[in-house]
Amino acid sequence: MTTTRIRKAVFPVAGLGTRFLPATKASPKEMLPVVDKPLIQYAVEEAYEAGIRDMVFVTGRSKRAIEDHFDTAYELENELEQAGKSEMLALVRSIAPADMNCLFVRQPRSLGLGHAVLCAEPLVGQEPFAVLLADDLMVGTTENGIGGPGVMAQMTAAFEKQGRSLLAVQEVPQEHTKRYGIVKGEAAGGPLIRVDQIVEKPAPEVAPSRMGVAGRYVLTPRIFEEIRNQPRGVGGEIQLTDAIARLMQHEAVYAYQYSGKRYDCGSKEGFLEATVELALQHPQVGAQFRAYLQGLAV
Ligand code: G1P
Repeated sequence: MTTTRIRKAVFPVAGLGTRFLPATKASPKEMLPVVDKPLIQYAVEEAYEAGIRDMVFVTGRSKRAIEDHFDTAYELENELEQAGKSEMLALVRSIAPADMNCLFVRQPRSLGLGHAVLCAEPLVGQEPFAVLLADDLMVGTTENGIGGPGVMAQMTAAFEKQGRSLLAVQEVPQEHTKRYGIVKGEAAGGPLIRVDQIVEKPAPEVAPSRMGVAGRYVLTPRIFEEIRNQPRGVGGEIQLTDAIARLMQHEAVYAYQYSGKRYDCGSKEGFLEATVELALQHPQVGAQFRAYLQGLAV
């Protein structure tokens, strides 16, 4: 491995979004908006903030809207220009800055997250890369609340220092271990834990800890080889978690306890929490929305 600079991010977006039916029958779940931006845009912005410019989308059938969202919208841009709506025009154009490259590859079958990451290999090549699951909407926080560096920016900075694979983790309630990859390891200074065990979605009784993996990873390219040589795991899928467990036999892997807040937008509850909290902070509608909620609570 020649570089510790992360230049590429992989967004696995081929999932069917069954937890959000009927909304996701004909529209990608990653295009569901939280206040005024689709989920996928939050994730892409987080990667861009971390200095990443090559965005690799692993898409599937009926995901065209994602490609269109990051493409030029000639008719719309033309109309906005003609109408002198320069602010809106700038907003539309800012979705895909000129120095950002969007690359698309299809995942032809739903064989799991590990398989989705493997589909990105021809576009990533032999260099370390980030993975962002758009379902997990992450916002950076400081001691005073929201607005700190994004989670991926924290992770790429950590990777530049030690060059080992990183998994974002947070403590999860014992009864929720079945929803996450769960890691166990030894404190390794600051936010780092050296992982010695990782298991996908264990039942609470057998979970090795309560440290759950959130949908952010920085991985060394060796992971591709591990995924390729791996049998199917939980749910008959090729799990990224299992490939990480195999990677650990060759290289150290660290869990990274990020500063930030995660909203599980793959669930209705998490999606609603994100919507309410981000709306409260929104520069245009925040104050009005707060007053509205206060009125409701009476
Ligand atoms: C995936 C991973 C899991 C991780 C989770 C984070 O699961 O397989 O290890 O903890 O994302 O959101 P999924 O939520 O796609 O079932």
